[in-house]
Amino acid sequence: MKIGVFDSGLGGLTVLDALLDELPDHDYVYLGDTARAPYGNRPSQEVEGFTIEAVEFLVRQSCNIVIIACNTASSEALRVIQQQVVPAKFPEIKVLGVLIPSAEAVHEKHYQTVGVIGTVGTISSGAYEREIKKINHQTEVIVSACPNLAGLIESGSLDSKEVREELKICLAPIVEGGAEALILGCTHYPLAIKEIEAALPETVDIINSPESIARSFKSYLERHPEIASKISRFGSVQYFTSGSAKDFREQGCKFMKNKMDVVKWVKI
Ligand code: DGL
Repeated sequence: MKIGVFDSGLGGLTVLDALLDELPDHDYVYLGDTARAPYGNRPSQEVEGFTIEAVEFLVRQSCNIVIIACNTASSEALRVIQQQVVPAKFPEIKVLGVLIPSAEAVHEKHYQTVGVIGTVGTISSGAYEREIKKINHQTEVIVSACPNLAGLIESGSLDSKEVREELKICLAPIVEGGAEALILGCTHYPLAIKEIEAALPETVDIINSPESIARSFKSYLERHPEIASKISRFGSVQYFTSGSAKDFREQGCKFMKNKMDVVKWVKI
């Protein structure tokens, strides 16, 4: 069996990259739904339907555990998948999201005021506030949507006026609210970490989600040997995209330090 990693597009490769650093021997299947990305401005029911299709695809590829690396999909579809789809269709499969590791990182560091940036879908779902306040209801959470940031990053225009403008607007309420830390609530944002740091006061810490996710997933497998023991360990990664395999490979390399292998096109 393998570990499935799903994202709306390329951004989840930042999560896969961190997983490969933590657990390099395990076998992975990555699916990027690039043909239908971005998910961030889509209605939540559509995101839910696409995410269910992606999980079904990964289960067909012999994954016994699926990480929904996309924050938008985790925020809008995870609950339905965990509570309805998994019990009804594949009770032996585990499906995990990516919000809880960052919420736990807030708690571990005892931040009292924290900012979260993400897509419109992620922010309007209220999922980050819910997860952070579930651990400590006194934590103040300042959320701010960045409608264009993921698209600008994906198109490669990092060092641009548009990115600086978008960050200035999105980060303003977080800076004014006195946040001690900022959660990068979108798989694309680690690529713009330098630009984000430059737009923040030095006193604001950045919670880098892919690293927190990978550490938390490693600890999850240690606590669940019944799942971990079924995962094969040949150090392989299969890449699938619903869009152009050529573009995925060319663009995807920017999202990873680890080497990317053959990319296959798939209809999901
Ligand atoms: N991967 C998405 C996320 O983490 C961002 C890109 C999109 O809008 O699809 O929220």
